[in-house]
Amino acid sequence: MLCGENRVSDPIRLARPDVGEAEMRAVAEVLASGQLTMGPKVAELERAIASAVGTRDAVAVANGTAALHLALLALDIGPGDEVIVPAYTFPATANAVRLCGADAVLVDVDSDTFVVDVAAVEAAVTARTRAVMVVHLFGRPVDWSGLRAAVPERVLLVEDAAGALGARYRGTPCGALGVAGCLSFHPRKIVTTGEGGAVTTDDAAVADAVRRLRHHGIATDGSADIAVPGFNYRLADVLCALGIPQVERLEELLAGREQAAAWYEQRLGGRVGTPSAAEGDRHGWQAYVIRVDRRDELLTELRAEGIEVQIGTYALDRLGAYRDQGPLDGARRAYEHALALPFAATTTEEEVDRVCDALLRRL
Ligand SMILES: Cc1ncc(COP(=O)(O)O)c(C=O)c1O
Repeated sequence: MLCGENRVSDPIRLARPDVGEAEMRAVAEVLASGQLTMGPKVAELERAIASAVGTRDAVAVANGTAALHLALLALDIGPGDEVIVPAYTFPATANAVRLCGADAVLVDVDSDTFVVDVAAVEAAVTARTRAVMVVHLFGRPVDWSGLRAAVPERVLLVEDAAGALGARYRGTPCGALGVAGCLSFHPRKIVTTGEGGAVTTDDAAVADAVRRLRHHGIATDGSADIAVPGFNYRLADVLCALGIPQVERLEELLAGREQAAAWYEQRLGGRVGTPSAAEGDRHGWQAYVIRVDRRDELLTELRAEGIEVQIGTYALDRLGAYRDQGPLDGARRAYEHALALPFAATTTEEEVDRVCDALLRRL
């Protein structure tokens, strides 16, 4: 630090993965075993995830984007098909549809909850609609019953539950609601493996197709045949080992996030738009994203104070790949006002105080 330079003391990071002794031990054991991939930790993580979500199967893959891609391919979605995608989401939700050769049809979101507008989905259904990507954005469960009732039975509901491990819709875990659930284990997610993801499903055929496609398309029946070429979307044992102790501590991690969210709500409720789940649902608190005016100025000013804030996520109709479908007002509003605050299972009350003081001073 140069003399006279403006020192930013103790930066508060946007996210802080909760990786402790158990994770270090688990990773060290895999390194010592010499089997870094395709070993026993993959199945162990899969059993833990399936048990946490309550599905018959969980298939571990390289990341959340791979989970989305393979879930759609396993459902035989491809050229000529339309898949409805909320316009305010991480771009991977729509990219996965396009990577399958299908058309991503953007629909608007509710700019208060950030999740899809059920009436907009209903209006977008055509004879070509095969599926809806149901994004429980930032961990907030979508109105599942409302959505199911709004689209014909033939339309598949695929959950983008990238940030919703642990979230519940009226008691049912996100990831167990649709024909397939897609999880991410990126470091900003509740459980992390550095990079990683999983597809959860009760459908044995979907699970088997995902297993084949993540490993070059090689048949799982022992024949070693490849009927349809696949990918290398495997998740290494060493990364699975990192995730297992965290899935075991899922309730503890959720409790830490619920506490941090409650501290923010106490200080910010009524002053800015604060997030919440619908009555009877459990928020997964992947991120704590508020709604403010002057979002861009606040981003710059808070960062200058060492408080690592971030935009919420993307309005897809602002991106070159999807621009032909806009503008969508709810997504634009969500994009322009959303501000993600520093948030983790280990966030302290002092950190929340410092973030809120800096924010409230500027309102
Ligand atoms: C809603 C949503 N979908 C998909 C993804 C993609 O997950 P990954 O980064 O693990 O590929 C993310 C990651 O941020 C996400 O937030």
